[in-house]
Amino acid sequence: MIEILDKNSAKNTKTFLLNTKNTTYAFTVLESGHLAHLFYGAKCDFGLDGVKATEGINKYLAGNTISYSSEYSNIGLEDLALEVSTIGKGDIREPQICLTNIDGSTSNDFIYHDYELINGYSSNGYRHLTCMPEAFSGDEQLIIKLKDSQRNIYLELVYTVFEDTDCITRRVRIINKEETFIDINRALSLCLDLPSKNLSMMTFTGAWTREMNVNELKVTQNKIVNSSFTGTSSNRNNPLVILKRKETSDFYGEAYGFNIIYSGNHYSCAQANGYGKARFVMGINPENFDFRIEHDEIFETPEVVMTFAKNGLNNLSQNFHEFIRNHIVRRTWAKKVRPVLLNSWEACYFKFNETKLLNMAKKAKDLGVELFVMDDGWFGNRDNDTCSLGDWDVNLKKLPNGLKGLADKINELGLEFGIWVEPEMVNVDSNLYREHPDWAIQIPGINHSEGRNQRILNLTMEEVRDYLVARIFDMLSSANIKYVKWDMNRIFTDYYGINLTRQKEMAHRYVLGLYDIMRRIVEEFPDVLFEGCASGGNRFDLGILSFMPQIWASDNTDAWCRAKIQTGYSYGYSTSVIAAHISASPNHQTLRNTLQESRFNVAAFGMLGLEVNLSDLNDDQIQLLKEQIAIYKKYRDVIFDGDYYRLSNGEETEFGNCVYEWICVSKDKTRALAFTMQDKAVANQPNAWLRVTGLDDNKKYHFFNMSNKYEIKHFGDLINTVSPIHIKPDSAMHRVIGKLKKMDGEVEDMVVAGSLLNNCGIRLHQNYAGTGYDGDVRFYQDFASRLFFIEEVVDNEND
Ligand code: DGJ
Repeated sequence: MIEILDKNSAKNTKTFLLNTKNTTYAFTVLESGHLAHLFYGAKCDFGLDGVKATEGINKYLAGNTISYSSEYSNIGLEDLALEVSTIGKGDIREPQICLTNIDGSTSNDFIYHDYELINGYSSNGYRHLTCMPEAFSGDEQLIIKLKDSQRNIYLELVYTVFEDTDCITRRVRIINKEETFIDINRALSLCLDLPSKNLSMMTFTGAWTREMNVNELKVTQNKIVNSSFTGTSSNRNNPLVILKRKETSDFYGEAYGFNIIYSGNHYSCAQANGYGKARFVMGINPENFDFRIEHDEIFETPEVVMTFAKNGLNNLSQNFHEFIRNHIVRRTWAKKVRPVLLNSWEACYFKFNETKLLNMAKKAKDLGVELFVMDDGWFGNRDNDTCSLGDWDVNLKKLPNGLKGLADKINELGLEFGIWVEPEMVNVDSNLYREHPDWAIQIPGINHSEGRNQRILNLTMEEVRDYLVARIFDMLSSANIKYVKWDMNRIFTDYYGINLTRQKEMAHRYVLGLYDIMRRIVEEFPDVLFEGCASGGNRFDLGILSFMPQIWASDNTDAWCRAKIQTGYSYGYSTSVIAAHISASPNHQTLRNTLQESRFNVAAFGMLGLEVNLSDLNDDQIQLLKEQIAIYKKYRDVIFDGDYYRLSNGEETEFGNCVYEWICVSKDKTRALAFTMQDKAVANQPNAWLRVTGLDDNKKYHFFNMSNKYEIKHFGDLINTVSPIHIKPDSAMHRVIGKLKKMDGEVEDMVVAGSLLNNCGIRLHQNYAGTGYDGDVRFYQDFASRLFFIEEVVDNEND
């Protein structure tokens, strides 16, 4: 709820309190007209002398700081916590808004003018003018109107409150009422000044196939910047940022989370000043950005989402998860569990034809797969990645019956059908490029630098957008296509559009163009499941999720790498938006061997798919896959909208190995799915102690695992300790015995109190430690993992 306190009605000074279920965000109008930030944190009552007690205005200014004006000589903007910041008037910290005014100066001074409060703010999720996505179904919206004290430039700060998820969004509108144009050199969506004591900034950085590594840096007077300049939100620096206190962990302490609903170049910066305050700003990256607005025009920034949690990073992550599920993901698939799919990429790459795909689809159907996805390679002459992007005509040599012929046959098998596209791109070796070379982003007369042999289409051109929308409409209407993987496999480097007079508008205008085509397409086909992708996680952000309800998280399908990557995503993104697949072993990115059990367990904590040639699997593997898919379907609603907690986040244990542990608990706390995985086996390690969280202390639960069988060949020549005759490891005899004799895995099966699982934990079966093995011992080698199922036991009244 938003409360407005009148401090001094004569001077039009007010205090604004934005309350969510557990948090308060407070700022006040000073007599000088500046907006001073008072507080952001756990819910507070600002009644009585609350405002006076928190304003902290000094009577005298320190040494060489600048005083705002002779009238307010005690106001020094350098040491005030501000809601909005510019260049000039004494604030020398990181600015939020930088303009080049008509007179060429860059100083601005925005002063409170008015406000507007909109109750029950609801939106269809897009801004009227620009198609820029915004969070939908907020509870209330507050618009603070400011005017430059010397110029006809207005600023509107827009705050939307989402009470149940403890989230508040912020964005800014710049309105030019000057006689002529002004140039916007920087337009960040948020400026927040917080106490700097013990503050650190968490960022999520990486590269292709190594997304979402977690970093933590202490906030000092040196700037910490998290930004992207790839034209996308990027796998180098995901826009998610967390500010936390030194002592905050997954379970304890205070933290602030920030993310931006934007898919282009972003920028965040944290820096302490010399007076115990840290400024945090977030928005469009100002690098190579310079946007002109003419008289009467408005520039709107993307929306930033912020949340605060008092009880640790799991609490913070859950706020973001709920926010994504309730206010970002929309249309048919927002509340609908996702089909288990088989994707052809790692199974075939570009080498397939209709027969091969249909054989795979038949096998997939028998396993319980629900959707068959044909990835790259189905159009033009696309037998490798050097050609045909842009030519979205089916390759009749590979698919003689066209898309419709294939889709119909897949449907006859009882599966839905989906395809891969990369609409934003063009290869020079394509008919599209030959016909429209001027549609590509390239600088005329200058050698072009390629990425994956391809160029980016100039989505700032209306005719390019219209063409793409028409082609995709045709494609999706030509056959029964129920899923689209929308890929984007190169980054921007030389920003240029022949249609633009101001090249520094290119990067942002491209994103607006992208949103325009995505919106038109997904709204025309609301029942199609769209999956975002950009070489994996190069555009994993809230902007894409506003159009496409899930994203391919990484091109890395190795189980251990994925455990780390998915843990990274979990800080800001729900399991319901993370696509995860079971692939072959050895893995195609790392050549690492892992058990099918581990590959499934990791992928089960996302929207599950297979990406493996089913013809290469033996009967045991097929049987296991079938069981795994069946169990996933039983629990997928829990993974989809349950409460997710990190129990162990990969830090080194006292035994020198690293462990990831997660749990997803259904909202009614009747069911849960828990996961554990280690990187390396440790000799003579005591029984693992699994303590979970989130269950109902007062319920009784059945705790059990998916008991497995292990191949005797994994025990190498230890077989000779029990065999009457000597068996040479890896010999034909070893393999035959391996086929016939499987070793039972341990069975976890108990009924215990929720309080015991939450507060004490349970000891799992002992690990193999070189002194004996039977079904009561865990076969737990390098990269081993287990899933545990937890179900409420309800006493039968008749018992
Ligand atoms: C990159 C994607 O991330 C992969 O999954 C696959 O679709 C390839 N592109 C196809 O070219």
